[in-house]
Amino acid sequence: MGPTSRPFAHSPGVDDFIIEIDASSVYQAFLLLISPPICQYMGETIMNEMRVSILHALLHRPMSYFDRKESSPAASSVLLSQQPQMTMALVDHKLSIVVDGLFACIAILVLTFAICFPNGFVGVIYLITYLFLLILFEKMYDGANKKLVELDTSGEVSLNLVGWLTGLMSFSFKEIITASSAVKLLFGIIDPSMEKRKMEKELDHIAEGSLRGQSISFAYPSQPNRRALIDVSFNVGKGRSLALVGPSGGGKSTIVNLLERFYDPDYGMLMLDSTPFTSLSHHQLRSNISLVGQEPILFRGSISDNIRLGKENASDEEVKEACRLANAIEFIQDLPEGYSTLVGEKGRSLSGGQKQRIAIARALVRNPKVIILDEATSALDTQSEKVVRVALESSSYGRTSIMIAHRLDTITQCDEICFIEGGKILERGSHSELIAKRGKYYEMTEQQRMF
Ligand SMILES: Nc1ncnc2c1ncn2[C@@H]1O[C@H](COP(=O)(O)OP(=O)(O)OP(=O)(O)O)[C@@H](O)[C@H]1O
Ligand SMILES: [Mg+2]
Repeated sequence: MGPTSRPFAHSPGVDDFIIEIDASSVYQAFLLLISPPICQYMGETIMNEMRVSILHALLHRPMSYFDRKESSPAASSVLLSQQPQMTMALVDHKLSIVVDGLFACIAILVLTFAICFPNGFVGVIYLITYLFLLILFEKMYDGANKKLVELDTSGEVSLNLVGWLTGLMSFSFKEIITASSAVKLLFGIIDPSMEKRKMEKELDHIAEGSLRGQSISFAYPSQPNRRALIDVSFNVGKGRSLALVGPSGGGKSTIVNLLERFYDPDYGMLMLDSTPFTSLSHHQLRSNISLVGQEPILFRGSISDNIRLGKENASDEEVKEACRLANAIEFIQDLPEGYSTLVGEKGRSLSGGQKQRIAIARALVRNPKVIILDEATSALDTQSEKVVRVALESSSYGRTSIMIAHRLDTITQCDEICFIEGGKILERGSHSELIAKRGKYYEMTEQQRMF
């Protein structure tokens, strides 16, 4: 057929137009199908990862972190529940710009290279320049923002600068950079030194279990001008026992808080065997030192689940052995579903003494070298107290133990007793030595005898 039968066949404009329409509609259809699920998948994955990272970061923060108003438990839970969502709301929309933009670049390059080599080459240069400028602006923004945050405590100036700088940029620059800063802010709570600390010296041997405190002074971060402990020293040899006694507010639980490493002392040093606490990972410390507090906290789940919170991979035998030491086997076996009985929220309600014995089994299942008992029997009635005391005696056998008790008749057998008042150790010695001294400890025993 001659050229006259196709009058427009040689018109390059029409050919290009046809290719453009075809390519554009294929591309649009492709984007419609592919882009949303990719964006959704990426968005959900990022959000979940963010949540896990934040939770992980929060769990490894020292207790002092939660004493600050901006990172109180309430503020942290808001951060955990809302911030990833807010960040994703921002990023989600932008993700589609990024994904679409990426596909568009690839499509444009393929098409222009196929049709016209010089145009394709220009496209590559355009893309490289775009990416270069994006990185450059982001670095400029980051540097300026950091400097201002250091100087500007109110944050007002930074906000203005962010507005000014981002106002200079095109819409997509601005949005992408805002999103990336929000993500950075969020991940800012993850302290890189924390990971490092976690990797620090892991004891390659099982601890002997001796504990030493050297000239410890400490003030709670919320009350920096009031020292809760002043120049406190103690030494508990492997398998020996130390009792901390004294009036309310004296500083006994504060020592426990430092031994659990909820806080670090401001001055002085704590050591497990001869290793300073600061050189041990939290995991290392927790696997060697167990705490039984005043109020047992049981979680929703079976009895064995609750005990395994002390050691995740504990075998059935280990769980049973911990229960035997905690004087809990009999009452558990009497329950219709035994170790599978549900306790905690909505579970079977157990007596105070039974709950405390499960808490003791949880503390013992990891076979710790050191056990700390902070008023472990003070919330119990006389009958329960007796059974729990039997449990505590058998559980501290062969372990280094630190006991805190208001009722002095429960600690008379301890190797050493420290009387603490106003954050200071005022007296120390065995029960008979302190009685013979006729000092503060003696006065306290006399007062208790009268009731
Ligand atoms: N989280 C905290 N933030 C600020 N101050 C605290 C905190 N916990 C305790 N304190 C203060 O530290 C001091 C020592 O308290 P601590 O709980 O160690 O006393 P305690 O000897 O265990 O008393 P109790 O016999 O009543 O349990 C008290 O003055 C107390 O008010
Ligand atoms: Mg206390």
